[in-house]
Amino acid sequence: MRLFIDTGSVAEVERIAAWGVLSGATTNPSLLAKEDGDPGEIIRRICELVGGPVSAEVVSQDPEGMVAEGRALRELHEHVTVKVPFCKEGLTATHALTSDGIPVNMTLVFSANQALLAAAAGATYVSCFLGRLDDISVDSGAVLAEIVDCFRAGGVTSQIIAASIRHPEHMITAAQLGCEIATTPAKVLDQMLNHPLTDAGAERFRQDWQSRPEFGEWLHALTEKRLQATG
Ligand code: E4P
Repeated sequence: MRLFIDTGSVAEVERIAAWGVLSGATTNPSLLAKEDGDPGEIIRRICELVGGPVSAEVVSQDPEGMVAEGRALRELHEHVTVKVPFCKEGLTATHALTSDGIPVNMTLVFSANQALLAAAAGATYVSCFLGRLDDISVDSGAVLAEIVDCFRAGGVTSQIIAASIRHPEHMITAAQLGCEIATTPAKVLDQMLNHPLTDAGAERFRQDWQSRPEFGEWLHALTEKRLQATG
């Protein structure tokens, strides 16, 4: 499963991109509205940082407006994927944009039926919102499993994005079900790092190595020698 970061913050993308784990990013109007600065510059910078697909969302409510905004957003950077909200108008716009070769991430999908419509309209990516389903006491894992089954059974090529991720367990569910992508807030990516046994193990290795200072000197000399040899 590829990892996208779900954010409008360049600083967050810079921080997490340094880990080497990101394949793309998703923004949305709410996330961008929290940031200072020009949204176009933010989207471009995120594109450069992740070097992969970055979703930027249209806000018009009619298909013509969505298509016009989508084309303009796409011209910001070659990595831009146009994000279109699920609705009849959004399906029409998705069909028009993808027919022109512009990748579309159909967002705000909450059921297998909506996902099938999004795929039929040609969506490149279909984003199922897990956390918001949980918020209304709907089993998000069951909905996601239904979407995966429907797509695999019918040979649908649209990629499934697990979105609205709220905690690391959502990541495991999405990966086990075979979603191609999870788009994840920085906070959850941070949580995924942690395990008390990792911290305890690293501390033990450090202490044991420090108990043999001559070994530390040996590794330092070995590294220096190589650095000098390779310039
Ligand atoms: C997906 O692309 C959306 O930007 C996002 O995952 C929404 O998540 P939220 O429900 O936490 O706002």
